[in-house]
Formats: sequence, structure tokens, C-alpha cells
Amino acid sequence: MKRIWWKEAVIYQIYPRSFMDSNGDGIGDLKGITSRLDYLKYLGIDVIWLSPVYKSPNDDNGYDISDYQAIMDEFGTMEDFDELLIEAHKRGLRIVMDLVVNHTSDEHKWFIESKSSKENPYRDYYIWREGKDINTPPNNWGSCFGGSAWQYDETTGMYYLHLFSKKQPDLNWDNPKVRKSVFDMMTWWCDKGIDGFRMDVISMISKTAEMPDGKVTDFYGDYSPYCVHGPNIHRYLQEMNENVLSKYDIMTVGETPGVTPKLAKQYAGEDTHELNMVFQFELVDIHGKYGKWTDEKLPLTELKKIMSRWQTELYNKAWNSLFWDNHDQPRAVSRFGNDSPAYREASAKMLATCLHMMQGTPYIYQGEELGMTNYPFEKLSDFRDIESINAYREWCESGEVSHEIFWPCLLFRSRDNARTPMQWDNSAQAGFTTGTPWISTNPNYTEINAKAETADPDSVFHYYKKLIALRKQNPIIVYGKYELLLKDSEELYVYTRTLDDEKLLVVCNFSETKTHFTIPEEFIGKTSLISNMENTYDKPEIALRPYEAFVLSNK
Ligand code: GLC
Ligand code: CA
Repeated sequence: MKRIWWKEAVIYQIYPRSFMDSNGDGIGDLKGITSRLDYLKYLGIDVIWLSPVYKSPNDDNGYDISDYQAIMDEFGTMEDFDELLIEAHKRGLRIVMDLVVNHTSDEHKWFIESKSSKENPYRDYYIWREGKDINTPPNNWGSCFGGSAWQYDETTGMYYLHLFSKKQPDLNWDNPKVRKSVFDMMTWWCDKGIDGFRMDVISMISKTAEMPDGKVTDFYGDYSPYCVHGPNIHRYLQEMNENVLSKYDIMTVGETPGVTPKLAKQYAGEDTHELNMVFQFELVDIHGKYGKWTDEKLPLTELKKIMSRWQTELYNKAWNSLFWDNHDQPRAVSRFGNDSPAYREASAKMLATCLHMMQGTPYIYQGEELGMTNYPFEKLSDFRDIESINAYREWCESGEVSHEIFWPCLLFRSRDNARTPMQWDNSAQAGFTTGTPWISTNPNYTEINAKAETADPDSVFHYYKKLIALRKQNPIIVYGKYELLLKDSEELYVYTRTLDDEKLLVVCNFSETKTHFTIPEEFIGKTSLISNMENTYDKPEIALRPYEAFVLSNK
């Protein structure tokens, strides 16, 4: 068992726009983050992952970057960033940057050059193709955010590829100059002293050169067989590792849509020299009748099957990252737990227990440690997210699906659920800003907020704090082997972790009903590491209340 810091770390994701506003303009910023570092230190996390803070016209909230080496005006200056880094390091907190290099903004200087003429030295930094004819794009691929994945550009009479919005043209990774420019930029950030990268849609950077039409799934053809885990993906990541990553003591996590355990062993294998770990989306990206837009909940048996496959297949071969939600997903407690007042706290703690006791590096998305919930959207103008707004237009306004059917799906899945302001206290706008926030504050901030929860030893916050501390004290939580019990139960998620002669039993009731469980003999009357309700474990038969969770050790 080789101990590695990023395997033992707990990571906290900050979505800067919604975390803390320091100057009253309604937009979170770097100085705001610096002012809240003590809160994060108190929670006990080790690493902060910052969603993009670079210069950007904000078509996709910073995931459209126009200058990789400058800070977005609304977020502050490079001096503010340097101060944040120094203050974080002073407290023993590391900072991981979002690396968005599948695409840039169309306002990036490379793209402005590229589109200016076919002879421009930057022309091949992007992916240009002739249309099939004057009005028809090169192929039928659809963009992730709706519409065609191709945009016609008049200057040279050709189309460029954009797998996301038309203001996010895809970089051409087959061009060695692009790779060199990206590696140089990464080196610049590493030399500044940052502690790692979360790599945006990194599984999509290599494309099949031929670009054939895809199978039509909804309105457009599916590009994924040609753009996801493309032909040179591993070569490019190994090159990146050799030229940049291997030279620093940093951590890397790849956002890898479409990844399977088998592929993860290549992307994040113990000796494949690519990345440290990947995010897998099997659990959160379940598709329904209308693409990702669905309001269905996953049966617990399915959820366990997915989680367990990753736990067992990656054991000793690659490393898992653990998360219930992030800035692209609805709130965990609303989706996998129960956000009604009676069960919100219990189910938020139960979910935390279930995830934090698994093998892998846990990620906490801002506000998750408070049990923040989805937002009660009422009308389309409540939304800010380009994906949500475009989806409504494409599916509803087109007449494809009725409002009545689509609306609940939008409410359940919209990324904006995660993007409402962090709830700091019960003052106006949850203490996030003294001005008007860029997106509405969840009205439940008067009850759910950091000030109240840090003061209450029984809060969701303190439960997370305890889970994080347990991980530091018990190497078994990091390195132990996972085994699933009761795989057919639709109510209980039960598993064990084993390291040498030590064993943990994790029991989580995912249901709203009282559920019976028989404690295996070796754990009866033994120490409880953590539990979200009072109970005794000295008899085999135990009745679990709704969303009850506990962890026992055989020691
Ligand atoms: C990733 C990001 C998401 C963004 C997309 C395009 O999935 O997490 O927020 O919209 O990539 O950059
Ligand atoms: Ca601000």
C-alpha cells in the first residue's frame, strides 16, 4: 500500500460565480473566495477545484475561454488570484484549476486569427470543413447544447466544428502546434504553483479525421463514436504527461464523458502515465426519452450495480473519483435523497456516508455540505444556463414535446439547480452579495445556511466535517477493499471495506420506510464510527428509520 496524497484528499469544488461576491455586483469573485478560506479549512477539506476563472465572454459561464493566462474581469485580477493561492497554501489547502482545452471561446485570439483567412498560421488550430453544399453542414452532428455542431463562417465560406455552443469552437489537437501551445500554457500555471488540473471533457479532444454522419438519435446525428475516446486520445494524454504533468507534484482528474471501467484503467491506470483519476458519469448521466431530460429516479439496485462495478474493477488498477453532484448536475439531496423538510437532513447525511466510505477521492460540490437543494423554478426566464434554455426551445417551443411533460424534466435536471448562490447566512441574498445576484437565491436560505449549520453540532455540515476527519484517521477508508452485500435490496445499500484484519460495515437506508436489517455477527456490539441517528448495535436485528445510516468497525 503506497500512500499518495491525492488518494487521501477530500476535494471541494467551487463554482466561483456563485460562491461569494466581495464587491456587491452580484457575481462571485476571487476576493470572495479568499474571504471564505477559513470556512473551508474548518470543514477540513484538502483541495479546492476552481471552476474556470479565466477571461471569458461567458457564453457558457467561463467554459468558453478567451485568454488562458488572464482572469475574468468580473472575478478580479491576476493579483487577486496570486493572493488566493498564497492564502490557500498558508492554510495547507491546494488549488486545482479547471483546464478547458477541447475548445476555446470564439473570442480567443487564436480563433480570431484562424477565421481571418485560409492561409493564416492559426488556421489549423481549429477544425474547418467545406459544407456538403452551400446550405448544408459537413455532416449531421448535433452540438451538446442543441442545434448543429457546425457553424458557417462567411469570411472564408467554410464551417467550423463546435461540439458545445457556437461560441466554443473545438481546437484541432491533431495539430502539434496546438498541443505545444496548450502544454506551454499548462507549464505557466504549474510554475505559478497551482496544484493540479481538472480537465474539461478531455475524452473528446481527439476526433476521427473522416467525420462521417452519425446515427440520428433525436434531432441530429450522434458524434460520440467519432469524437469521444477518439483515435489519438491516449497518445495526446501521454504526451501531456511527459511534457508537463510528470514534472510537478500535482493531481489530475479527467472529465471523461462516456468512460467505462475498462477505459478508466487506461486513462487513470497505475502505470499508464496519463491522468490520476477520472470522473465517470454512468450514474448521473442516465438518458431518458428526451436525451438527458428526464425526471425519473434510478432504482437503488441499478445505482448499486454501477457504483460496485467501479469499486471492484478499479481496485488496485486505477483510482476512482467519488461524487453525487457538481455544477452540471442537480443537487444531490434532491436527486438521490429526499429534500422534503422531514427528510432533507437525514437523507443528505445518509448520502454523504454512502459516498465518503467508498474507495476513491471524494468531491464535495459547494453547498452540498449544507444539504442545499434544487431551486423551485417557475418560468423560463428564471434560468440562466445556455443548455437549459436551448433545450426548452429545441424540445418545447418547436412543438416536439408538451410543456407539461418537459417542464418537470427541466426542473429535475437543469444545471442551474447547482448554480444558485451559496447560502452563507440568513441575511438578504443568503449573505452571498449585498447587490442583486446574477441568478436567484434559493428561498430556503433562511433555514439552510452555513452560519446556522456551523453553529449546530447536529447539522449536515458537522456530519461532513466528521466524515472528512474519519478519512484522515482511518487508512481503511482510503485503501480498504470494497464488497457489496444485499445486492437485490431496493431499500438498503450495504457494503464492507477490508484492510488486513480490519473491517468496516456501511449501512444506508435509501428509503422512506422503516427497514429491517441483520447485523453480521462480527460487527455486533462493536464500535460505531459514525451514524446519522441514535441507535444501538448490540443485537443482530435492527430496524432502520427512513434514511438512517451507520458505519461499524469490527475492532
Ligand atoms: C463540461 C463542463 C460544463 C461545460 C462543458 C463545455 O462538461 O463541466 O460545465 O458546459 O464541459 O465546456
Ligand atoms: Ca463580485
